[in-house]
Amino acid sequence: MTDAFTPRDWSAHPPYVFPGYKSTRLRGPTKPLIPLKATLSEVTGPVYGHEAVGALDSDLTRNGRRNGEPLGERIIVTGRVLDEAGRPLRNTLIEVWQANAAGRYVHVTDRHDAPLDPNFLGGGRCVTDDAGVYRFTTVRPGAYPWRNHANAWRPCHIHFSLFGNGLASRLVTQMYFPGDPLLAYDPIFLSAPEGARDRLISRFSLDDTQEAYALGYDFEIVLRGPGQTPMER
Ligand SMILES: [Fe+2]
Repeated sequence: MTDAFTPRDWSAHPPYVFPGYKSTRLRGPTKPLIPLKATLSEVTGPVYGHEAVGALDSDLTRNGRRNGEPLGERIIVTGRVLDEAGRPLRNTLIEVWQANAAGRYVHVTDRHDAPLDPNFLGGGRCVTDDAGVYRFTTVRPGAYPWRNHANAWRPCHIHFSLFGNGLASRLVTQMYFPGDPLLAYDPIFLSAPEGARDRLISRFSLDDTQEAYALGYDFEIVLRGPGQTPMER
């Protein structure tokens, strides 16, 4: 399966080493990669059981509740997953993770001096439908500081992971919000080539906005071809 794919156009993706994004200097490979042929189990192996994905899994405002609603501005994030010909991809497992509205992750290494939300875990997943559409309900994540450089703050973002039909077909990227002033200073966003960066920014959508409940954002993910979404290497 992987061998049959249209080759990825690497000019739309960040380089392995982007000096402004400090940790890539340490972890990015500096020698050419050695292609390994995928084994049958990697190509065909199931990555999850369909039954395991429940309805609440895609609603981050509910899947971590303990004694109430999570704090923050409710949003709906939705879009299609498309291949290089614009065909929708059904049955794609999408996992997301994000900081809470205050910019804090539920993670042992997150020491940001911002409150945890007892009703928000920050993780969710869903599977695209027959039209390639996914949909999450969540709260808008807050910006948070990181130690990459002086006064470094990540723009508001949601991490996305996409699984194809096999274990070896995983893609990881981040979705941003329109008009975020921190985008101009973020080395992770800026590591994506200039012409492809805007594909990482979601679009405010009144059509997806739910009256008196949540603002809608549309984020289309294109896996191959000229409009492909930049992915993390
Ligand atoms: Fe993050």
